[in-house]
Amino acid sequence: MKADQPRTKPRVVIKLSGSLFGLEDTKTLKQFAELFVRSAKFCQPIIIAGGGKIARHYISHARSSGADESTLDEIGIEVSRLNAKLLIFALQESAYPHPPTNLKEVANAADSGLIVVTGGLHPGQSTNATAALIAEKVRASTFLNATDVDGVYDSDPRKNRNAKKFKKIPLKKLRAMLVQQDSVAGGYDLMDIVALKVIERSKIKTRILKADTRILEKAMKGSPEGTEITPS
Ligand code: UTP
Repeated sequence: MKADQPRTKPRVVIKLSGSLFGLEDTKTLKQFAELFVRSAKFCQPIIIAGGGKIARHYISHARSSGADESTLDEIGIEVSRLNAKLLIFALQESAYPHPPTNLKEVANAADSGLIVVTGGLHPGQSTNATAALIAEKVRASTFLNATDVDGVYDSDPRKNRNAKKFKKIPLKKLRAMLVQQDSVAGGYDLMDIVALKVIERSKIKTRILKADTRILEKAMKGSPEGTEITPS
């Protein structure tokens, strides 16, 4: 089946926070795998694994030895691919067997009808931007960014207890909040400018929500979890 042909199941693109691929906890990832297998009955999950702490560890190690930024990005991509492989193993035969390495491969893998899991694709961007590009490429019905906070706040909820969560945020407002952000390897946050540009140009229905199986399952069924990014 080709990406532009009618499909019976909508494609849902999910960016899965790298924080889920912790070294010690092996249970959480299996619970996510079970959720994706369950949800494959009503949609086709296409998942992008973040690099998490392990990527940041490798990046800071290599940076201290003088590696250039694009090399550091490539290290981040390799770690996110390893994370993708962990989820592929947990999904067993429900998953496409390899993490695709470019957008065309993602589209071909999606045409298999299986659950697709990938890591990063190109240096110079975050897995969030990659996930937005993938959502555009596979004509996803929704892009869910499952991260370590439960939505977009007016200030960082990890630092400010009085931070207020938005149910909806206009894309332009979110962009204004992100302009100050760093763009060095390992330093991309909730969303980035590239991701927002792609979401805007292709009008991709996008939500930022907590990487929690119960919340994600509801969101995959269309419940308004987290924060919706509304077109400007
Ligand atoms: P991320 O920063 O996107 O993973 O990728 P993360 O930090 O785990 O994401 P969160 O915390 O869940 O949001 C790790 C690093 O890999 C490189 C970048 O250097 C990024 O900081 N990367 C990743 C790329 O260069 N290109 C990609 O497509 C993906």
